Amino acid sequence: MNTPAALAELDKLQSLHPYTNLRRHEERGPVIMARGRGIHVYDVEGREYIEGLAGLWCCSLGFSNERLIAAATKQLNTLPYYHGFAHKTSDVAIEAARELLAIAPGKMARVFFGTSGSDANDTAIKLVRYYNNALGRPHKKKIIARTKGYHGVSVAAASLTGLPHLHTGFDLPGPDVLHTDCPHHWRFAQPGESEEAFAARLARSLGQLIEREGPETIAAFIAEPVMGAGGVIPPPEGYFDLVQPILKQHDILMIADEVICGFGRTGQMWGSQTYDIEPDILTCAKALTGGYVPFSATLISQRVYEPIAEQSAKIGTFGHGYTYSAHPLGAAVAIEAMKIYREVDIAARVRSLAPQLQEGLRTLAASPIVGEVRGVGLIAAVELVKNKTTRESFPPGAAIAGYFAERAHAHGLVLRALGEAVALCPPLVIEPSEIDEMLARFTRALRDTEAYAERFSK
Ligand SMILES: Cc1ncc(COP(=O)(O)O)c(C=O)c1O
Repeated sequence: MNTPAALAELDKLQSLHPYTNLRRHEERGPVIMARGRGIHVYDVEGREYIEGLAGLWCCSLGFSNERLIAAATKQLNTLPYYHGFAHKTSDVAIEAARELLAIAPGKMARVFFGTSGSDANDTAIKLVRYYNNALGRPHKKKIIARTKGYHGVSVAAASLTGLPHLHTGFDLPGPDVLHTDCPHHWRFAQPGESEEAFAARLARSLGQLIEREGPETIAAFIAEPVMGAGGVIPPPEGYFDLVQPILKQHDILMIADEVICGFGRTGQMWGSQTYDIEPDILTCAKALTGGYVPFSATLISQRVYEPIAEQSAKIGTFGHGYTYSAHPLGAAVAIEAMKIYREVDIAARVRSLAPQLQEGLRTLAASPIVGEVRGVGLIAAVELVKNKTTRESFPPGAAIAGYFAERAHAHGLVLRALGEAVALCPPLVIEPSEIDEMLARFTRALRDTEAYAERFSK
């Protein structure tokens, strides 16, 4: 077995890391994790960290859930691979779809399985096209997403994503994608504008965009109930209540991207339930298997399904599907994860723990560099600012959130820097005493960052 130093050298020479400055990586090398237990992960040197982002917002049941491991092991020993092409499937894929539909919100009636949030959203886009072609509306194709929304990195999903670094250098976004306003009240509201008034202004702006483009050209609107990678941005009061009637009026489908919010994160099983969203299409992944197996789902209503089924009959097949669609390993682990969510009433658990996290973070609002503390359920972010009154940002060169994340790491807490915010999204199995410890480590990183920030105060 290689030593940690040898592993790091190998990684520097051979890797191409996601979301990483590749040249910087050649110099500083990797953080190498070796094992996990509960909410903790341990690096190859044996250092312990609280995984404050549940990996990438996904390990809701922690890093050593014996039931998920047993379900995976059993499935590998029984039927390690099968697929969904040409009328075939597996018993577990059928069962996973049934479990998912049983807990899905509203009108969901059909399930397509993939392996990532990105491909779930790609599938949603293709279904929207197929649906409108089936209905004889070949011009109704554009999809409206939001600035700072995150929907993945495939060519189509990255186009929907409203973050510049997913577009720059990649010739994206592609055609037929529009972006409307980011619903971040603290950052984008006008002076004195209430959340409700801000939401109303954004809804008007959406309506105007639709009118300008022509409602007959707009097929769908996609939104995360709470924006995740864009900075953990819960919607302003009344936002979805105002947006949805506009979509209905123009026969525009509502796609809820529940890849982060799904399975209890916001205190209800779905973010759509927390914010009264009635999706026509819903995508989910991540916590669907507790992050243990790549597995995702795109759910659609019967109304969306019917024309698609007709169209496939006319064409002769529904020409979409991955080798790993409905993979039995993902299906088996998803069934077990959903069983656990039901047994422990995961949403109720989140509701009972949320005040400790949310109020705990809000006690840090007095810090001279904390502009906003926001979040819901067990997802939260702290926005760092140079000037609390004017909300002036730190200069980009300060890399303030990156510095915070490094200090947190040094104090044994993994979190995520997103723009000028730092985000927490811990495993939902976190215990109250562990939340206290996470907050203590977070506070230590904040104090270090306050000291660092002083050099930018002039
Ligand atoms: C809301 C949302 N949608 C889609 C994705 C893409 O998922 P994946 O990275 O599995 O492709 C992510 C990933 O973080 C996400 O947060």
